[in-house]
Amino acid sequence: MKRLSIGAMLALVALAACQTALTQSESSAVPQQEATREAAPAPAGSSAEPSASPAVGTAQGAAYVTAAKAQPPAVAIPKHSYTSCDVNGPYIAMTFDDGPSAELTPKLLDILKERGIKATFFVVGQNAAEYPDILRRMASEGHEVANHSWSHPALTKLGADGVRRQMENTSEAIARATGRRPVLMRPPYGATNASLNKRLAEEYGLKVVLWSVDPLDWKYRNSNRVQNYIIENAHPGAIILSHDIHATTVAAMPGTLDALLAKGYKFVTVSELIAMEVPVQLAKKEPVSSPSPAPR
Ligand code: NI
Repeated sequence: MKRLSIGAMLALVALAACQTALTQSESSAVPQQEATREAAPAPAGSSAEPSASPAVGTAQGAAYVTAAKAQPPAVAIPKHSYTSCDVNGPYIAMTFDDGPSAELTPKLLDILKERGIKATFFVVGQNAAEYPDILRRMASEGHEVANHSWSHPALTKLGADGVRRQMENTSEAIARATGRRPVLMRPPYGATNASLNKRLAEEYGLKVVLWSVDPLDWKYRNSNRVQNYIIENAHPGAIILSHDIHATTVAAMPGTLDALLAKGYKFVTVSELIAMEVPVQLAKKEPVSSPSPAPR
């Protein structure tokens, strides 16, 4: 029992260290010197594996509960979901949900191509199956294609079989069109919870991607409002949410993207952003009194 507890406590320390704070500093402008600094993003496919998280078996799990009580500050949750990423540099990820749209998505792809910008598309499976050519174009132009369910239900209201159908059918439609299975998913309405996140990672190899900047473009069909909100709220490591099924959103993009480029931001896919996350130092367990993460 004692050996188990020590093992569990070690696992706990490792888990706590693996966890990255989800909150971002509110710095709005990108320092110009950072904009010129080069960092080599990892290739998109290289972050496909779910991040290492020691499996806790039932016996260890019981010991772990004891250990957690003995060590109050640690909250050990493996990281299966992201709202933003801690990165060194002005990197951001634009994400577009609910498409593809036969009319609007190709227009958006033109806008991105003109600027050499890579984005991430969380596609709805039934649209993906209808427009495989658009998915093929996304992939061939360097964008990431990810899973946004088959028919856009709240996954938290479905049983295990329902979730399975929503995930598998969509991943298959994406793989058929692009030749690659997605490694990321975004739950419709952002509706998820810790156990669903864990299941999506372990059973389907899908990390859950939420967002840190939301212009509510589905609600406010006003290009200027969408553009201003994104420009004002973008931050290094941001995951920016929008929808390529709204004409007002696509119309907002040239101005939005040009302004972000002018501020020094660099666009990467979500998998690239995740791969850039600053490694946590296992030895340094208490980052408590550092008021703001020092930009390097
Ligand atoms: Ni959606």
